[in-house]
Amino acid sequence: SQVLACGWVDCYRNHGGVLFLDLRDRTGLVQIVVQPDNPALFATGETLRSEFVVAVSGVVRRRPDGTINANLPTGEIEILAQGIEILNASQTLPFEISQYSHVSEEVRLQYRYLDLRRPRLQRNLILRHKICQAIRAELNRELFLEIQTPMLTKSTPEGARDYLVPSRLNPGSFYALPQSPQIFKQILMVGGMEKYYQIVRCFRDEDLRSDRQPEFTQIDIEMSFADESDVMILTEKLVAAAFEVATGKKCRLLMRRVTYQEAMDRYGSDRPDLRYGLEITDLSEILKDCQFQVFANVLKSNGIVRALRFPEGGSFSRSEIDNLTQFVIRLGAKGLAWMKFTAAGAESNIVKYFTPAELTAIAAAAQAKEGDILFFAAGPWKGALSILGSLRQELAKRNQLIKDKDQFEFLWVTDFPLLEKDEKENRWSSMHHPFTAPQAGDVALLDSAPGKVRARAYDIVLNGTELGGGSIRIHRGDLQKKVFGVLGVNEESAKEKFGFLIDALNFGAPPHGGIALGLDRMVAIFLGEDSIRDTIAFPKTQKGVCLMSGSPSPVSANQLKELSINVHKPLTGCSASS
Ligand code: AMO
Repeated sequence: SQVLACGWVDCYRNHGGVLFLDLRDRTGLVQIVVQPDNPALFATGETLRSEFVVAVSGVVRRRPDGTINANLPTGEIEILAQGIEILNASQTLPFEISQYSHVSEEVRLQYRYLDLRRPRLQRNLILRHKICQAIRAELNRELFLEIQTPMLTKSTPEGARDYLVPSRLNPGSFYALPQSPQIFKQILMVGGMEKYYQIVRCFRDEDLRSDRQPEFTQIDIEMSFADESDVMILTEKLVAAAFEVATGKKCRLLMRRVTYQEAMDRYGSDRPDLRYGLEITDLSEILKDCQFQVFANVLKSNGIVRALRFPEGGSFSRSEIDNLTQFVIRLGAKGLAWMKFTAAGAESNIVKYFTPAELTAIAAAAQAKEGDILFFAAGPWKGALSILGSLRQELAKRNQLIKDKDQFEFLWVTDFPLLEKDEKENRWSSMHHPFTAPQAGDVALLDSAPGKVRARAYDIVLNGTELGGGSIRIHRGDLQKKVFGVLGVNEESAKEKFGFLIDALNFGAPPHGGIALGLDRMVAIFLGEDSIRDTIAFPKTQKGVCLMSGSPSPVSANQLKELSINVHKPLTGCSASS
Protein backbone atom coordinates (compact mmCIF):
# COMPACT_ATOMS: atom_id res chain seq x y z
CA SER A 1 0.00 0.00 0.00
CA GLN A 2 0.99 3.62 -0.62
CA VAL A 3 2.29 5.52 2.42
CA LEU A 4 3.96 8.76 3.44
CA ALA A 5 6.38 8.38 6.33
CA CYS A 6 7.91 11.40 8.05
CA GLY A 7 10.71 11.31 10.60
CA TRP A 8 14.43 11.38 11.28
CA VAL A 9 17.15 9.41 9.57
CA ASP A 10 18.30 7.14 12.37
CA CYS A 11 20.98 5.45 10.30
CA TYR A 12 21.83 4.80 6.66
CA ARG A 13 23.93 2.33 4.74
CA ASN A 14 24.72 1.55 1.13
CA HIS A 15 24.61 -2.17 0.37
CA GLY A 16 25.88 -3.00 -3.05
CA GLY A 17 24.32 0.01 -4.71
CA VAL A 18 21.04 -0.13 -2.76
CA LEU A 19 20.43 2.44 0.02
CA PHE A 20 18.86 1.38 3.29
CA LEU A 21 17.63 4.00 5.72
CA ASP A 22 16.14 3.52 9.16
CA LEU A 23 13.50 6.18 9.56
CA ARG A 24 12.58 7.00 13.15
CA ASP A 25 9.62 8.67 14.78
CA ARG A 26 8.06 8.46 18.24
CA THR A 27 6.59 5.07 17.48
CA GLY A 28 9.85 3.42 16.41
CA LEU A 29 11.84 2.58 13.29
CA VAL A 30 10.95 1.54 9.78
CA GLN A 31 13.31 0.49 7.01
CA ILE A 32 13.32 2.50 3.76
CA VAL A 33 14.84 1.04 0.59
CA VAL A 34 16.09 3.36 -2.16
CA GLN A 35 16.93 1.54 -5.37
CA PRO A 36 19.36 2.86 -8.00
CA ASP A 37 16.84 2.59 -10.87
CA ASN A 38 15.63 6.15 -10.21
CA PRO A 39 18.91 8.15 -10.37
CA ALA A 40 17.46 11.45 -9.12
CA LEU A 41 15.84 9.77 -6.12
CA PHE A 42 18.99 7.80 -5.40
CA ALA A 43 21.09 10.97 -5.56
CA THR A 44 18.81 12.63 -2.98
CA GLY A 45 19.03 9.50 -0.85
CA GLU A 46 22.80 9.63 -0.94
CA THR A 47 22.86 13.14 0.55
CA LEU A 48 20.97 12.03 3.67
CA ARG A 49 22.83 12.01 6.98
CA SER A 50 21.93 11.17 10.57
CA GLU A 51 19.03 13.19 11.95
CA PHE A 52 18.02 14.75 8.64
CA VAL A 53 14.25 15.17 8.69
CA VAL A 54 12.57 13.61 5.67
CA ALA A 55 9.20 12.77 4.18
CA VAL A 56 9.37 9.52 2.23
CA SER A 57 6.55 8.40 -0.04
CA GLY A 58 6.50 4.85 -1.26
CA VAL A 59 4.90 1.44 -0.98
CA VAL A 60 5.01 -0.97 1.91
CA ARG A 61 6.19 -4.44 1.00
CA ARG A 62 7.19 -7.62 2.77
CA ARG A 63 10.90 -7.94 3.26
CA PRO A 64 12.44 -10.70 1.19
CA ASP A 65 12.90 -13.99 3.06
CA GLY A 66 16.11 -14.08 5.01
CA THR A 67 16.13 -10.32 5.66
CA ILE A 68 13.37 -10.28 8.28
CA ASN A 69 14.44 -8.62 11.55
CA ALA A 70 12.63 -10.36 14.40
CA ASN A 71 13.88 -7.80 16.92
CA LEU A 72 11.95 -4.94 15.34
CA PRO A 73 8.14 -4.60 15.45
CA THR A 74 8.32 -3.44 11.81
CA GLY A 75 10.95 -6.05 11.01
CA GLU A 76 8.83 -7.95 8.49
CA ILE A 77 8.20 -5.00 6.18
CA GLU A 78 10.00 -2.13 4.49
CA ILE A 79 9.03 0.91 2.45
CA LEU A 80 10.23 1.03 -1.13
CA ALA A 81 10.89 4.76 -1.66
CA GLN A 82 9.31 6.55 -4.62
CA GLY A 83 9.90 10.10 -3.42
CA ILE A 84 12.10 11.70 -0.75
CA GLU A 85 11.66 15.26 0.43
CA ILE A 86 14.31 16.63 2.73
CA LEU A 87 12.38 18.73 5.26
CA ASN A 88 15.52 19.78 7.11
CA ALA A 89 19.18 18.95 7.35
CA SER A 90 21.15 18.48 10.56
CA GLN A 91 24.65 19.45 11.55
CA THR A 92 26.93 16.76 12.90
CA LEU A 93 25.55 15.79 16.28
CA PRO A 94 27.38 16.30 19.60
CA PHE A 95 26.37 12.72 20.45
CA GLU A 96 24.65 9.78 18.88
CA ILE A 97 20.94 9.41 19.38
CA SER A 98 21.39 5.67 19.84
CA GLN A 99 20.77 4.50 23.39
CA TYR A 100 24.00 2.54 23.33
CA SER A 101 26.42 5.44 23.23
CA HIS A 102 27.37 6.86 26.60
CA VAL A 103 27.02 10.61 27.01
CA SER A 104 27.62 12.73 30.10
CA GLU A 105 24.52 14.11 31.74
CA GLU A 106 25.82 17.64 31.32
CA VAL A 107 25.95 17.32 27.54
CA ARG A 108 22.58 15.54 27.50
CA LEU A 109 20.99 18.40 29.43
CA GLN A 110 22.60 21.04 27.25
CA TYR A 111 21.23 19.41 24.09
CA ARG A 112 18.05 18.20 25.72
CA TYR A 113 16.18 18.28 22.38
CA LEU A 114 18.56 15.62 21.07
CA ASP A 115 18.46 13.68 24.32
CA LEU A 116 14.68 13.66 24.12
CA ARG A 117 14.91 11.86 20.78
CA ARG A 118 16.68 8.92 22.44
CA PRO A 119 14.62 5.79 23.14
CA ARG A 120 14.88 5.92 26.91
CA LEU A 121 13.55 9.43 27.38
CA GLN A 122 10.91 8.80 24.74
CA ARG A 123 9.74 5.77 26.71
CA ASN A 124 9.87 7.64 30.02
CA LEU A 125 7.87 10.64 28.82
CA ILE A 126 5.33 8.50 27.00
CA LEU A 127 4.78 6.39 30.11
CA ARG A 128 4.67 9.48 32.33
CA HIS A 129 1.92 10.81 30.08
CA LYS A 130 0.03 7.53 30.25
CA ILE A 131 0.39 7.40 34.02
CA CYS A 132 -1.09 10.91 34.30
CA GLN A 133 -3.97 9.88 32.06
CA ALA A 134 -4.63 6.73 34.09
CA ILE A 135 -4.65 8.72 37.31
CA ARG A 136 -6.93 11.37 35.85
CA ALA A 137 -9.32 8.67 34.61
CA GLU A 138 -9.43 7.07 38.05
CA LEU A 139 -10.05 10.40 39.82
CA ASN A 140 -12.64 11.49 37.28
CA ARG A 141 -14.46 8.21 37.81
CA GLU A 142 -14.53 8.98 41.54
CA LEU A 143 -16.05 12.39 40.73
CA PHE A 144 -13.04 14.52 41.67
CA LEU A 145 -12.84 17.97 40.08
CA GLU A 146 -9.59 19.17 38.50
CA ILE A 147 -9.14 22.74 39.68
CA GLN A 148 -6.18 25.09 39.16
CA THR A 149 -4.78 27.07 42.06
CA PRO A 150 -2.59 30.18 41.80
CA MET A 151 1.10 30.10 40.99
CA LEU A 152 1.63 33.67 42.14
CA THR A 153 0.70 33.30 45.76
CA LYS A 154 1.73 33.77 49.34
CA SER A 155 4.29 31.84 51.30
CA THR A 156 3.08 28.28 51.99
CA PRO A 157 3.82 26.08 54.95
CA GLU A 158 5.86 23.13 53.61
CA GLY A 159 9.01 24.24 55.33
CA ALA A 160 11.44 24.82 52.45
CA ARG A 161 12.65 28.20 51.20
CA ASP A 162 10.29 30.01 48.85
CA TYR A 163 11.01 31.17 45.34
CA LEU A 164 9.97 34.81 45.31
CA VAL A 165 8.61 36.87 42.44
CA PRO A 166 8.74 40.66 42.76
CA SER A 167 5.57 42.60 42.09
CA ARG A 168 6.07 45.56 39.74
CA LEU A 169 2.76 47.10 40.75
CA ASN A 170 3.52 46.76 44.44
CA PRO A 171 7.14 47.79 44.84
CA GLY A 172 8.87 45.97 47.66
CA SER A 173 6.25 43.21 47.75
CA PHE A 174 6.72 39.68 46.51
CA TYR A 175 4.65 36.74 45.50
CA ALA A 176 5.88 33.30 46.53
CA LEU A 177 5.66 30.41 44.10
CA PRO A 178 3.68 27.63 45.81
CA GLN A 179 5.62 24.92 47.63
CA SER A 180 2.33 23.05 47.31
CA PRO A 181 -1.31 24.07 46.88
CA GLN A 182 -1.92 23.05 50.52
CA ILE A 183 -3.85 26.07 51.72
CA PHE A 184 -5.78 26.59 48.51
CA LYS A 185 -6.95 22.99 48.39
CA GLN A 186 -8.21 23.29 51.95
CA ILE A 187 -10.00 26.51 51.01
CA LEU A 188 -11.59 24.65 48.09
CA MET A 189 -13.08 22.24 50.63
CA VAL A 190 -14.43 25.16 52.63
CA GLY A 191 -15.77 26.38 49.29
CA GLY A 192 -17.83 23.22 48.95
CA MET A 193 -15.91 21.55 46.09
CA GLU A 194 -15.81 18.30 48.08
CA LYS A 195 -13.31 16.40 45.92
CA TYR A 196 -10.38 18.18 44.29
CA TYR A 197 -7.31 17.12 42.38
CA GLN A 198 -4.60 18.73 40.36
CA ILE A 199 -1.45 17.50 38.69
CA VAL A 200 0.46 20.51 39.74
CA ARG A 201 3.90 22.07 39.70
CA CYS A 202 5.39 22.91 43.10
CA PHE A 203 8.48 24.98 43.83
CA ARG A 204 10.93 24.55 46.68
CA ASP A 205 14.26 26.22 47.08
CA GLU A 206 16.12 23.44 48.87
CA ASP A 207 19.34 21.49 48.45
CA LEU A 208 18.87 19.22 45.49
CA ARG A 209 19.45 15.47 45.31
CA SER A 210 18.70 12.80 42.77
CA ASP A 211 15.09 12.66 43.99
CA ARG A 212 14.60 16.40 44.44
CA GLN A 213 14.09 19.13 41.88
CA PRO A 214 13.42 22.83 42.55
CA GLU A 215 10.23 22.48 40.54
CA PHE A 216 8.51 19.14 40.65
CA THR A 217 5.04 17.75 40.11
CA GLN A 218 2.54 16.55 42.65
CA ILE A 219 -0.66 14.64 42.19
CA ASP A 220 -2.48 16.75 44.70
CA ILE A 221 -5.74 15.59 46.25
CA GLU A 222 -8.16 16.83 48.88
CA MET A 223 -11.56 15.47 49.92
CA SER A 224 -14.28 16.47 52.36
CA PHE A 225 -16.01 14.22 54.89
CA ALA A 226 -13.17 11.72 54.56
CA ASP A 227 -11.06 9.89 57.10
CA GLU A 228 -7.58 8.37 56.83
CA SER A 229 -8.80 5.14 55.26
CA ASP A 230 -10.76 6.92 52.53
CA VAL A 231 -7.65 8.80 51.43
CA MET A 232 -5.40 5.76 51.72
CA ILE A 233 -7.70 3.44 49.78
CA LEU A 234 -8.12 6.02 47.01
CA THR A 235 -4.34 6.53 46.87
CA GLU A 236 -3.74 2.79 46.61
CA LYS A 237 -6.08 2.65 43.62
CA LEU A 238 -4.21 5.51 41.92
CA VAL A 239 -0.80 4.05 42.62
CA ALA A 240 -1.94 0.64 41.40
CA ALA A 241 -3.32 2.15 38.18
CA ALA A 242 -0.03 4.00 37.59
CA PHE A 243 1.98 0.89 38.42
CA GLU A 244 0.06 -1.19 35.92
CA VAL A 245 0.59 1.36 33.16
CA ALA A 246 4.31 1.56 33.93
CA THR A 247 5.13 -2.10 34.44
CA GLY A 248 2.22 -4.03 32.96
CA LYS A 249 1.82 -5.73 36.35
CA LYS A 250 -0.75 -5.49 39.07
CA CYS A 251 0.27 -4.42 42.55
CA ARG A 252 -1.25 -5.52 45.79
CA LEU A 253 -3.97 -3.28 47.19
CA LEU A 254 -4.43 -3.03 50.94
CA MET A 255 -0.78 -2.22 51.33
CA ARG A 256 1.05 -2.92 54.58
CA ARG A 257 0.61 -0.31 57.28
CA VAL A 258 3.07 0.33 60.07
CA THR A 259 3.08 3.06 62.64
CA TYR A 260 5.89 5.59 62.74
CA GLN A 261 6.95 4.13 66.09
CA GLU A 262 7.19 0.62 64.66
CA ALA A 263 8.98 1.76 61.49
CA MET A 264 11.58 3.56 63.57
CA ASP A 265 11.94 0.76 66.13
CA ARG A 266 12.36 -2.00 63.56
CA TYR A 267 14.09 -0.25 60.67
CA GLY A 268 15.44 3.05 62.04
CA SER A 269 13.60 5.03 59.38
CA ASP A 270 10.19 6.52 58.73
CA ARG A 271 10.50 5.37 55.11
CA PRO A 272 12.01 1.93 55.45
CA ASP A 273 13.07 -0.11 52.45
CA LEU A 274 11.39 -3.47 52.91
CA ARG A 275 13.14 -5.21 50.04
CA TYR A 276 15.48 -6.68 52.63
CA GLY A 277 15.29 -7.72 56.29
CA LEU A 278 18.01 -6.44 58.64
CA GLU A 279 15.88 -5.55 61.64
CA ILE A 280 16.85 -3.70 64.77
CA THR A 281 16.62 -5.19 68.26
CA ASP A 282 16.04 -3.37 71.54
CA LEU A 283 18.70 -4.24 74.12
CA SER A 284 17.94 -1.51 76.64
CA GLU A 285 16.30 -3.80 79.19
CA ILE A 286 19.02 -6.47 78.94
CA LEU A 287 21.83 -3.96 79.34
CA LYS A 288 20.36 -1.62 81.91
CA ASP A 289 22.82 -2.76 84.62
CA CYS A 290 25.78 -3.48 82.33
CA GLN A 291 29.34 -2.47 83.19
CA PHE A 292 30.01 -0.82 79.83
CA GLN A 293 29.87 2.80 80.88
CA VAL A 294 29.03 4.19 77.44
CA PHE A 295 25.83 2.11 77.30
CA ALA A 296 25.05 2.39 80.99
CA ASN A 297 25.25 6.19 80.96
CA VAL A 298 23.02 6.46 77.93
CA LEU A 299 20.45 4.16 79.52
CA LYS A 300 20.53 6.12 82.76
CA SER A 301 19.73 9.31 80.90
CA ASN A 302 16.65 7.84 79.21
CA GLY A 303 18.47 6.86 76.03
CA ILE A 304 18.36 3.52 74.25
CA VAL A 305 20.75 0.79 73.17
CA ARG A 306 19.80 -1.03 70.01
CA ALA A 307 21.54 -3.47 67.70
CA LEU A 308 21.33 -4.25 64.02
CA ARG A 309 22.12 -7.81 63.01
CA PHE A 310 23.82 -8.52 59.73
CA PRO A 311 23.58 -12.25 59.03
CA GLU A 312 26.90 -13.80 58.09
CA GLY A 313 28.66 -10.50 58.57
CA GLY A 314 31.24 -12.31 60.71
CA SER A 315 33.53 -12.28 57.73
CA PHE A 316 33.68 -8.47 57.64
CA SER A 317 37.33 -7.43 57.82
CA ARG A 318 38.66 -4.83 60.24
CA SER A 319 39.01 -2.35 57.42
CA GLU A 320 35.41 -2.91 56.32
CA ILE A 321 34.27 -2.31 59.89
CA ASP A 322 36.50 0.80 60.12
CA ASN A 323 34.91 2.02 56.95
CA LEU A 324 31.42 1.55 58.37
CA THR A 325 32.57 3.31 61.53
CA GLN A 326 33.63 6.31 59.47
CA PHE A 327 30.24 6.18 57.77
CA VAL A 328 28.30 6.46 61.03
CA ILE A 329 30.68 9.07 62.41
CA ARG A 330 29.87 11.26 59.42
CA LEU A 331 26.22 10.91 60.46
CA GLY A 332 27.02 12.21 63.91
CA ALA A 333 27.69 8.97 65.85
CA LYS A 334 30.65 8.93 68.22
CA GLY A 335 31.73 5.50 67.02
CA LEU A 336 30.43 2.08 66.12
CA ALA A 337 30.39 -0.78 68.61
CA TRP A 338 30.10 -4.23 67.08
CA MET A 339 30.19 -7.87 68.07
CA LYS A 340 30.90 -10.93 65.95
CA PHE A 341 29.52 -14.33 66.93
CA THR A 342 32.03 -17.09 66.28
CA ALA A 343 32.34 -20.73 67.28
CA ALA A 344 34.43 -19.51 70.23
CA GLY A 345 31.70 -17.08 71.35
CA ALA A 346 31.24 -13.36 71.03
CA GLU A 347 34.21 -11.38 69.81
CA SER A 348 34.95 -7.67 69.72
CA ASN A 349 36.61 -4.81 71.52
CA ILE A 350 33.66 -4.41 73.87
CA VAL A 351 32.96 -8.05 74.74
CA LYS A 352 35.03 -7.79 77.91
CA TYR A 353 32.54 -5.36 79.46
CA PHE A 354 29.66 -7.85 79.43
CA THR A 355 28.87 -10.85 81.61
CA PRO A 356 28.37 -14.22 79.93
CA ALA A 357 24.69 -13.95 80.82
CA GLU A 358 24.45 -10.56 79.11
CA LEU A 359 26.21 -11.88 76.02
CA THR A 360 23.84 -14.84 75.84
CA ALA A 361 20.85 -12.54 76.31
CA ILE A 362 22.10 -10.17 73.58
CA ALA A 363 22.54 -13.05 71.13
CA ALA A 364 19.12 -14.46 71.96
CA ALA A 365 17.32 -11.13 71.66
CA ALA A 366 18.96 -10.28 68.33
CA GLN A 367 18.73 -13.90 67.13
CA ALA A 368 22.43 -13.74 66.40
CA LYS A 369 23.83 -17.01 65.17
CA GLU A 370 27.38 -18.15 64.60
CA GLY A 371 28.83 -16.13 61.74
CA ASP A 372 26.65 -13.07 62.34
CA ILE A 373 27.71 -9.58 63.36
CA LEU A 374 25.80 -7.05 65.46
CA PHE A 375 26.23 -3.30 65.24
CA PHE A 376 25.21 -1.21 68.25
CA ALA A 377 23.94 2.30 68.63
CA ALA A 378 23.38 4.06 71.95
CA GLY A 379 21.84 7.46 72.45
CA PRO A 380 18.55 9.31 72.37
CA TRP A 381 15.72 7.28 70.78
CA LYS A 382 15.49 9.01 67.44
CA GLY A 383 19.18 9.76 67.01
CA ALA A 384 20.38 6.23 67.77
CA LEU A 385 17.72 4.60 65.61
CA SER A 386 18.37 6.94 62.70
CA ILE A 387 22.04 5.96 62.74
CA LEU A 388 21.15 2.27 62.63
CA GLY A 389 18.58 3.01 59.91
CA SER A 390 21.22 4.64 57.72
CA LEU A 391 23.67 1.85 58.48
CA ARG A 392 21.00 -0.68 57.52
CA GLN A 393 20.60 1.00 54.14
CA GLU A 394 24.33 1.27 53.61
CA LEU A 395 24.91 -2.38 54.47
CA ALA A 396 22.21 -3.42 52.03
CA LYS A 397 23.82 -1.31 49.33
CA ARG A 398 27.40 -2.44 49.96
CA ASN A 399 26.39 -6.08 50.10
CA GLN A 400 23.99 -5.92 47.17
CA LEU A 401 21.05 -7.26 49.14
CA ILE A 402 18.60 -5.99 46.52
CA LYS A 403 18.81 -8.73 43.95
CA ASP A 404 15.61 -8.19 42.03
CA LYS A 405 15.34 -4.76 40.43
CA ASP A 406 11.67 -5.40 39.74
CA GLN A 407 10.81 -5.78 43.40
CA PHE A 408 8.43 -3.11 44.67
CA GLU A 409 7.64 -2.95 48.40
CA PHE A 410 4.91 -0.45 49.23
CA LEU A 411 3.89 0.47 52.72
CA TRP A 412 2.02 3.10 54.65
CA VAL A 413 3.58 4.77 57.63
CA THR A 414 0.93 6.15 59.98
CA ASP A 415 0.57 7.75 63.42
CA PHE A 416 3.41 10.23 63.02
CA PRO A 417 4.04 12.54 65.93
CA LEU A 418 2.27 15.84 65.34
CA LEU A 419 5.22 17.86 66.56
CA GLU A 420 8.95 17.57 66.88
CA LYS A 421 11.18 19.51 69.17
CA ASP A 422 13.77 21.78 67.71
CA GLU A 423 16.34 21.27 70.47
CA LYS A 424 18.53 24.18 69.37
CA GLU A 425 15.72 26.70 69.37
CA ASN A 426 13.85 24.90 72.14
CA ARG A 427 10.50 25.07 70.41
CA TRP A 428 8.03 22.74 68.78
CA SER A 429 7.60 22.53 65.03
CA SER A 430 5.14 20.58 62.87
CA MET A 431 6.37 17.28 61.55
CA HIS A 432 4.16 17.65 58.44
CA HIS A 433 2.56 21.08 58.32
CA PRO A 434 0.62 23.11 60.89
CA PHE A 435 -2.80 22.19 59.46
CA THR A 436 -2.42 18.48 60.25
CA ALA A 437 -5.04 17.27 62.72
CA PRO A 438 -3.99 15.66 65.99
CA GLN A 439 -5.61 12.32 66.81
CA ALA A 440 -8.79 12.96 68.79
CA GLY A 441 -7.63 10.98 71.80
CA ASP A 442 -4.37 12.93 72.01
CA VAL A 443 -5.73 16.49 71.88
CA ALA A 444 -5.63 16.74 75.66
CA LEU A 445 -1.86 16.13 75.54
CA LEU A 446 -1.28 19.30 73.49
CA ASP A 447 -0.71 21.19 76.74
CA SER A 448 0.87 18.56 78.96
CA ALA A 449 3.01 16.47 76.57
CA PRO A 450 3.07 17.92 73.04
CA GLY A 451 5.72 15.42 71.94
CA LYS A 452 3.33 12.54 72.61
CA VAL A 453 0.51 13.84 70.41
CA ARG A 454 0.04 11.67 67.33
CA ALA A 455 -1.06 13.16 64.05
CA ARG A 456 -3.72 11.93 61.65
CA ALA A 457 -0.96 11.80 59.04
CA TYR A 458 0.22 9.09 56.66
CA ASP A 459 3.05 8.65 54.18
CA ILE A 460 3.15 6.15 51.36
CA VAL A 461 6.61 4.66 50.95
CA LEU A 462 8.10 2.60 48.13
CA ASN A 463 11.50 0.91 48.30
CA GLY A 464 12.83 3.38 50.87
CA THR A 465 11.52 6.51 49.16
CA GLU A 466 8.64 8.66 50.34
CA LEU A 467 6.24 8.65 47.41
CA GLY A 468 3.67 10.86 49.03
CA GLY A 469 2.25 12.16 52.23
CA GLY A 470 -0.90 13.66 53.58
CA SER A 471 -3.21 13.99 56.53
CA ILE A 472 -6.64 14.72 57.84
CA ARG A 473 -6.64 18.44 58.55
CA ILE A 474 -7.77 20.58 61.39
CA HIS A 475 -11.17 21.93 60.30
CA ARG A 476 -12.09 24.01 63.33
CA GLY A 477 -10.75 27.44 64.08
CA ASP A 478 -10.41 26.87 67.81
CA LEU A 479 -8.21 23.78 67.42
CA GLN A 480 -6.10 25.44 64.72
CA LYS A 481 -5.55 28.37 67.06
CA LYS A 482 -4.53 26.00 69.82
CA VAL A 483 -1.98 24.22 67.59
CA PHE A 484 -0.51 27.53 66.45
CA GLY A 485 -0.22 28.37 70.15
CA VAL A 486 1.85 25.23 70.84
CA LEU A 487 3.98 25.99 67.77
CA GLY A 488 4.70 29.39 69.26
CA VAL A 489 3.14 31.17 66.30
CA ASN A 490 1.43 34.16 67.84
CA GLU A 491 -1.98 35.25 66.67
CA GLU A 492 -0.65 38.22 64.79
CA SER A 493 1.89 36.28 62.80
CA ALA A 494 -0.57 33.40 62.13
CA LYS A 495 -3.05 35.96 60.85
CA GLU A 496 -0.45 37.61 58.69
CA LYS A 497 0.71 34.30 57.16
CA PHE A 498 -2.40 32.16 56.93
CA GLY A 499 -5.16 34.52 58.11
CA PHE A 500 -7.48 33.68 55.25
CA LEU A 501 -7.40 29.98 56.11
CA ILE A 502 -7.98 30.60 59.80
CA ASP A 503 -10.90 32.89 58.94
CA ALA A 504 -12.28 30.29 56.53
CA LEU A 505 -12.25 27.58 59.22
CA ASN A 506 -14.66 29.76 61.21
CA PHE A 507 -17.27 29.76 58.44
CA GLY A 508 -18.47 26.19 58.42
CA ALA A 509 -15.42 24.32 57.14
CA PRO A 510 -16.22 20.63 56.58
CA PRO A 511 -13.95 17.91 57.93
CA HIS A 512 -11.42 17.20 55.20
CA GLY A 513 -8.10 15.61 54.36
CA GLY A 514 -5.91 14.68 51.45
CA ILE A 515 -2.55 13.68 50.13
CA ALA A 516 0.08 14.64 47.56
CA LEU A 517 2.04 12.07 45.58
CA GLY A 518 5.37 12.99 44.03
CA LEU A 519 4.75 12.19 40.37
CA ASP A 520 8.41 12.46 39.30
CA ARG A 521 9.54 10.07 42.03
CA MET A 522 6.78 7.58 41.35
CA VAL A 523 7.52 7.47 37.62
CA ALA A 524 11.28 7.17 38.26
CA ILE A 525 10.95 4.22 40.63
CA PHE A 526 8.39 2.40 38.50
CA LEU A 527 10.60 2.79 35.43
CA GLY A 528 13.79 1.84 37.28
CA GLU A 529 15.45 5.24 36.87
CA ASP A 530 17.92 6.34 39.55
CA SER A 531 17.22 10.03 39.11
CA ILE A 532 13.95 11.90 38.72
CA ARG A 533 15.72 14.03 36.11
CA ASP A 534 15.18 11.19 33.66
CA THR A 535 11.42 11.47 34.04
CA ILE A 536 11.24 15.25 33.53
CA ALA A 537 11.42 16.82 30.08
CA PHE A 538 13.50 19.84 31.14
CA PRO A 539 15.10 19.22 34.54
CA LYS A 540 17.64 21.33 36.33
CA THR A 541 21.09 20.34 37.58
CA GLN A 542 22.04 19.88 41.24
CA LYS A 543 22.82 23.59 41.23
CA GLY A 544 19.35 24.47 40.01
CA VAL A 545 20.60 25.44 36.55
CA CYS A 546 18.89 24.68 33.24
CA LEU A 547 21.87 23.92 31.02
CA MET A 548 19.81 24.26 27.86
CA SER A 549 18.21 27.66 28.40
CA GLY A 550 20.88 28.95 30.76
CA SER A 551 18.51 29.95 33.54
CA PRO A 552 18.86 31.47 36.05
CA SER A 553 20.54 34.43 34.41
CA PRO A 554 21.15 38.09 35.17
CA VAL A 555 18.47 40.53 34.00
CA SER A 556 18.82 44.00 32.56
CA ALA A 557 19.20 47.08 34.71
CA ASN A 558 15.92 48.30 33.27
CA GLN A 559 14.01 45.25 34.39
CA LEU A 560 15.43 45.63 37.88
CA LYS A 561 14.54 49.30 37.97
CA GLU A 562 10.96 48.59 36.98
CA LEU A 563 10.75 46.13 39.84
CA SER A 564 12.35 48.62 42.27
CA ILE A 565 15.12 46.13 42.96
CA ASN A 566 18.71 47.01 43.78
CA VAL A 567 21.16 44.14 43.44
CA HIS A 568 24.06 44.63 45.79
CA LYS A 569 26.47 41.94 44.74
CA PRO A 570 27.13 41.60 41.03
CA LEU A 571 25.28 38.52 39.85
CA THR A 572 27.50 35.77 38.55
CA GLY A 573 25.99 34.70 35.27
CA CYS A 574 25.12 31.06 34.81
CA SER A 575 26.49 30.20 31.43
CA ALA A 576 25.33 27.08 29.69
CA SER A 577 28.41 25.22 30.83
CA SER A 578 28.37 26.16 34.52
P1 AMO B 1 5.09 16.82 50.99
O1 AMO B 1 5.89 18.01 51.31
O2 AMO B 1 5.34 15.57 51.76
O3 AMO B 1 3.54 17.11 51.21
O4 AMO B 1 5.23 16.50 49.44
C1 AMO B 1 4.52 15.43 48.84
C2 AMO B 1 5.43 14.62 47.95
O5 AMO B 1 6.04 15.44 46.96
C3 AMO B 1 7.30 14.90 46.61
N1 AMO B 1 8.34 15.94 46.75
C4 AMO B 1 9.31 16.17 45.84
N2 AMO B 1 9.58 15.59 44.66
C5 AMO B 1 10.61 16.07 43.95
N3 AMO B 1 11.37 17.12 44.32
C6 AMO B 1 11.13 17.76 45.50
N4 AMO B 1 11.87 18.81 45.84
C7 AMO B 1 10.06 17.28 46.33
N5 AMO B 1 9.53 17.65 47.51
C8 AMO B 1 8.51 16.82 47.75
C9 AMO B 1 7.57 13.73 47.53
C10 AMO B 1 6.61 13.99 48.66
O6 AMO B 1 6.22 12.79 49.29
N6 AMO B 1 0.91 19.62 50.97
C11 AMO B 1 1.49 18.38 51.42
C12 AMO B 1 0.64 17.19 51.05
C13 AMO B 1 -0.62 17.06 51.85
O7 AMO B 1 -0.55 17.18 53.10
O8 AMO B 1 -1.68 16.79 51.25
C14 AMO B 1 2.88 18.22 50.77
O9 AMO B 1 3.28 18.94 49.89
O10 AMO B 1 7.24 12.53 46.85
